Amino acid sequence: MYYAEEIVEEVRTRNDIVEVIGGYVRLQKKGSRYWGLCPFHNEKSPSFSVNGDMQVYHCFGCGAGGNVYTFMMNYENYSFPEAIRMLAERAGVALPQQDDSQEGRKRESRRARLLEVNKAAAKFFYFQLRSPHGEIGYRYLKKRELTDETMRKFGLGFAGKDGANLVKYLREKGFEDDLIQEAGLASHSEKYGLTSQFWNRVMYPIQDINNRVIGFGGRVMGEGEPKYLNSPETPVFDKRRNLYGLNYARRARSNNIILCEGYMDVIAMHQAGFGQAVASLGTAFTSEQAALLRRYAQTVLLAYDSDGAGVKAAVRAIGILREAGLSGKVINMQPYKDPDEFMKALGKEAFQERIGQAENSFFFEIRILEGQFDMNDPEEKTRFHREIARKLCEFSEDVERENYLQAVADKYFISKDNLRKLVTGYAASTGLAKPVERPKSGVRPKKNSPEENARRAQRLLISWLLDEPVLYGKVRKYISAEDFTEELYRKAAERLFRDMENGAPNPAAIISTFEDGEEQSQAAALFSASLPELGSGQEREKAFHEILLTVKRNSYEYHVAQMGTDVGALAQAIEGKKALEELARTHISLD
Ligand code: CTP
Ligand code: MN
Repeated sequence: MYYAEEIVEEVRTRNDIVEVIGGYVRLQKKGSRYWGLCPFHNEKSPSFSVNGDMQVYHCFGCGAGGNVYTFMMNYENYSFPEAIRMLAERAGVALPQQDDSQEGRKRESRRARLLEVNKAAAKFFYFQLRSPHGEIGYRYLKKRELTDETMRKFGLGFAGKDGANLVKYLREKGFEDDLIQEAGLASHSEKYGLTSQFWNRVMYPIQDINNRVIGFGGRVMGEGEPKYLNSPETPVFDKRRNLYGLNYARRARSNNIILCEGYMDVIAMHQAGFGQAVASLGTAFTSEQAALLRRYAQTVLLAYDSDGAGVKAAVRAIGILREAGLSGKVINMQPYKDPDEFMKALGKEAFQERIGQAENSFFFEIRILEGQFDMNDPEEKTRFHREIARKLCEFSEDVERENYLQAVADKYFISKDNLRKLVTGYAASTGLAKPVERPKSGVRPKKNSPEENARRAQRLLISWLLDEPVLYGKVRKYISAEDFTEELYRKAAERLFRDMENGAPNPAAIISTFEDGEEQSQAAALFSASLPELGSGQEREKAFHEILLTVKRNSYEYHVAQMGTDVGALAQAIEGKKALEELARTHISLD
């Protein structure tokens, strides 16, 4: 780790997890935990739990979990140093100078270097644009009606007449060749050595939500190919998880986000006063981006190109938005091609009007569908109605489906009863009234395999011991960290049992010992299993005994399988078997 454990712990304990998460998610107390809608996946009833005693959170739906650091890193896209700085500031803790621990420090400093070289490149492009070499670029942007202020705000630049000058500049600034390459700013060729692929292009620096330059898009001057050239993915440039303009849009305090296709669209929109415009990064809109937008708005207005490709992309984006629980609407740009052209031709008042008239995404889809059928042909018309019924089946909520059914029936002059019959028939024939589930990141399928049962018992045991630490004294002679066959659980148990010996279990601190986000989630799950709700003392004792036995039996089987065949191993196995039988007979009182 990057900071000393003591300071990491101090900052963590000074930031109550219920308060911090409560600032982002509406939480309600139920029993000993708080519950809310998970910000990491789409859901309608709360399965996201925050435990104030343990200072950990865990989502029973998607498996996300961790401590207050994990939360800030996942929610705000922070690196660990960013999260600790932010939380330290929140709690008024002064951070000492970062101390050393090789690994993390190396990785962080590499990321930091990549950001530095990007920043230097952005500077280079920026000054090029404003120098005589950049005149074509500057004139191009002027022709596209951008003001100097807008160009400054978006840090627009120009990549000059060849790919050598950027490399020369960066080398002079002390950046090593491999760093320049890893940042995707240049590549090596036999003939020319290290040169940049960016030349003769207007450059759009792409910033993350914290205003750091993570990559570039470059538009060619004239008719060259490709029209837009983007940086490749790098350790700091994740195209699925960032959006152009989001660093400004997140502060726009608008109740919607406008999703465009191009960089130029976003810039034109911002210049016209629509600061909530964003665009994906030269790739199709992703579910990760939808999850990101969900933090800032409930409604996403699509301002995609009005050509065929744009409509197709819009239909795709609508599905992704719906899956993320966002409501999508489509802005009609006709007769113009895109927001940029629309704005130039008709201006912002007209665009504001179009926002007001934005079409509900369901009706948009139906309208697009309609275009694929010939309404004069009764057979095609019937097929169209069947398609509507199929789409209606995607609403899992009865009220919502019925409301849409009525509206669409009115709009297309279909008898409601007949349409309802089609819907019922369709639902019955396929047995589903739900949208097709696409795999969402972080959602693990539930399995009932023996391995998963064993893991579940291990989680239940640990969570129970945390819930009632006095029980530890009663089971410590039967159980040890070695009984946890899942490596991560064993590591966590080792530390937890040690803490328990000292009377101070500290699950949130244990989470911090794992560097990887996925590991932190798993550790949080280990601490957060939901214990069976049991009435009588007898029932509870039985359940606890059962769990303990399952863990022990699994451990025994696991270790036997690992053992060799020598005499010592055999003796050990017999020992273990005896211990297991003894435990099965032993009554452990929970009082
Ligand atoms: N795009 C890309 N690579 C291409 C073409 C497009 O990455 N070869 C991405 C860019 O992010 C671009 C967006 O798709 O901004 C929209 O493409 P297009 O509609 O062709 O660009 P415009 O924004 O209309 O570009 P311009 O107005 O500069 O012609
Ligand atoms: Mn366009």
